[in-house]
Amino acid sequence: MMMLEAGGASIPALGLGTWTLSGRRCTELVAGALAAGYRHVDTAAAYDNEAAVGEAVRHCGLPREQIHVTTKVWHTDLAPRDLVRSVENSLRRLGLDHVDLALVHWPSRDVPLAHTIAAMNQVADRGLARHIGVSNFTVALLDQAVALSEHPIVCNQVEYHPYLSQDRVLAACRRHGVALVSYCPLGRAGGLLAEPAIAAAARAHGRSPAQVVLRWHLQQPGVGAIPRSSSPARIRENLDVFGFALTGAEMAAIDALKARGQRICDFAFSPDWDPA
Ligand SMILES: NC(=O)c1ccc[n+]([C@@H]2O[C@H](COP(=O)([O-])OP(=O)(O)OC[C@H]3O[C@@H](n4cnc5c(N)ncnc54)[C@H](OP(=O)(O)O)[C@@H]3O)[C@@H](O)[C@H]2O)c1
Repeated sequence: MMMLEAGGASIPALGLGTWTLSGRRCTELVAGALAAGYRHVDTAAAYDNEAAVGEAVRHCGLPREQIHVTTKVWHTDLAPRDLVRSVENSLRRLGLDHVDLALVHWPSRDVPLAHTIAAMNQVADRGLARHIGVSNFTVALLDQAVALSEHPIVCNQVEYHPYLSQDRVLAACRRHGVALVSYCPLGRAGGLLAEPAIAAAARAHGRSPAQVVLRWHLQQPGVGAIPRSSSPARIRENLDVFGFALTGAEMAAIDALKARGQRICDFAFSPDWDPA
């Protein structure tokens, strides 16, 4: 497994997204993913599936230290006492004594970032999370978070796929030595997978379009991806992306799709995004 090295953390570059998965089905899918070789699982307090994820992690037979578990704190819980309690509740639901990475799920316009980052540092000091990071942070917010934090900010998990440029955020992550973990890495699949540039590369390498898109993520230094699937076969397919490489021309043709500028996750509480 390729690893992202950032701020002392070693994060498996390809992880399993679990948003929308729940209950016994979620436990089975995560267990199947771990058996297939996944070593990184992404969940969040807001996904309502931490108990199901934790059950798979605890009963998979792998040593705990071989599995990277990420969870996140929702934006309404960023005042210090709420934040620490949120992580404690996540751990209780997961049935784990620590996560590998705790993230601020979205920035808040209400709670000063200094308070939130101080609380994230407490979470790390107390060993509730081995590492801390952020999600959906713009360049300006990432700069502030890095400056405010004693513990390294190891990751900024952001929406990233060929239809959305993250050139500015990626440059900021690299400047700070922060890993960029791509969510919605397949652009929630659909039309993206039929793009001629992606289909052509898939034919050339005898791979699926989804594998080409995931390979495009992983060939960018400092970038990882957490695709989600509700199909055991597609979960296995999405991990099988280490045995081929896209050419520079194929990477450039897929890069060119960013002209579309299509953001999927955008809410009233989103920050003011960086310009494309
Ligand atoms: N930090 C945040 O704010 C945030 C926001 C959104 C998501 N996330 C995280 O990122 C993860 C991934 O993002 P996402 O779930 O929104 O979108 P995604 O991974 O880009 O796309 C998931 C969709 O792609 C399909 N798919 C998966 N593998 C495929 C394959 N090999 N071939 C064809 N279709 C395939 C799935 O359908 P099937 O199920 O039918 O396979 C599903 O409909 C989430 O699960 C969550 O953990 C984080």
